[in-house]
Amino acid sequence: MSTTQTDELTATQIMAGEKQHILQTYKRAPVVLSHGDGVKVWDIEGREYLDFAAGIAVNALGHADAGMADVLAAQARKLTHTSNLYYTAPQVQLAEKLTANSFADKVFFTNSGTEANEGAIKFSRKYAKVNYPNVHKTQIVCFDHAFHGRTMGSLALTPKEAYQAAFRPLMPDVVVAPFNDIAALNTHITDQTCAVFIEPVQGEGGIHPADPKFLAALRTRCNEVGALLVFDEVQCGLGRTGDLWGHTIGGVEPDIMTLAKPLAGGLPIGAILVTDAVAAVMGYGDHGSTFAGGPLVCAVASHVFDRISKPAFLTHVKEVGAYMMDRLQEINSPLIKTVRGRGLMVGVEFNTEVEPIIKKGVDNGLLLVGAGVNVLRLVPPLILEKGQVDSLVERITGILTTL
Ligand SMILES: Cc1ncc(COP(=O)(O)O)c(C=O)c1O
Repeated sequence: MSTTQTDELTATQIMAGEKQHILQTYKRAPVVLSHGDGVKVWDIEGREYLDFAAGIAVNALGHADAGMADVLAAQARKLTHTSNLYYTAPQVQLAEKLTANSFADKVFFTNSGTEANEGAIKFSRKYAKVNYPNVHKTQIVCFDHAFHGRTMGSLALTPKEAYQAAFRPLMPDVVVAPFNDIAALNTHITDQTCAVFIEPVQGEGGIHPADPKFLAALRTRCNEVGALLVFDEVQCGLGRTGDLWGHTIGGVEPDIMTLAKPLAGGLPIGAILVTDAVAAVMGYGDHGSTFAGGPLVCAVASHVFDRISKPAFLTHVKEVGAYMMDRLQEINSPLIKTVRGRGLMVGVEFNTEVEPIIKKGVDNGLLLVGAGVNVLRLVPPLILEKGQVDSLVERITGILTTL
């Protein structure tokens, strides 16, 4: 079958073509998406869906945003890619915005979340080597249910048997500590620790917010042993929680923060934000990427950042997020255990597996994603409106009565 004339293919043909030509690593819903508008998206057969997955917490401004499209088109007509052999203005302008609005002094751009964490691992190792030359300081601490990515370094910090088993040996010297357990910190974080990686709100692990007291205790312990504190805000950062950063609420600042998913509203980008002390250990040639920080993606990311960082935008996320949480809590079903989260990053934990709910969601015009076996993860575009929350609740309530 030729797949060159995409527009003329039926959904059945596209799904068969995928099976034939694409590595079978994704269990996809049987939907071929064609176009979107805001929170709505349509499949090629014309069915409409409300998108509560947003490309897994990516499409912060929704689909087919006109402002993003204009910036993208204008930049594409000027300059798309240069590599990092040269300077370009969009990269520097984006870095200025990120540092002006965070703890960070400097930025290194990447192309994805896992790459941002790979870079943070390397920076942490080098920081320890330079600053503690006589200590064997190579350990990295992560937490139960963490998700930091699929490449070999990030995978080692993602303690899930199903993800790790086939790929051992992994990066050594990783210590897994219990999440939100202050009493356990002293045993797990020691003089041998070079960095501690944590998601201020765990995403894939089931939408578990870190206790602000836990983050404060982590900061103190990292200072005691000379370890870097790394916040992985790939999923919870940039407005998702209703604050600009997931850690804003607790007032604790990291040494390194990684970003990705929503940063360019759907184009691939990641970023590692660091203090000057961390930046100082990285010299010419220590790290690099051909594509990262290109003018096209950075111009779009600057536009996305300007819109998300506006106080009124963040207030909207908080209001609609609180409304979504309330409305979900009102659902009277014995299948629901708890509803938790912050802003528009909400997890509904069920007593049962969520896969059938996600499948029925498709039949009821909802795009949904899970987080582990029992948790439905609601991470819609941040432009979601309360009326769309009402539609979600009505449809989920209906689905639950059929289970
Ligand atoms: C917290 C966190 N870190 C890292 C990643 C990996 O990002 P990517 O899929 O862009 O490599 C994810 C992806 O879900 C994530 O949620």
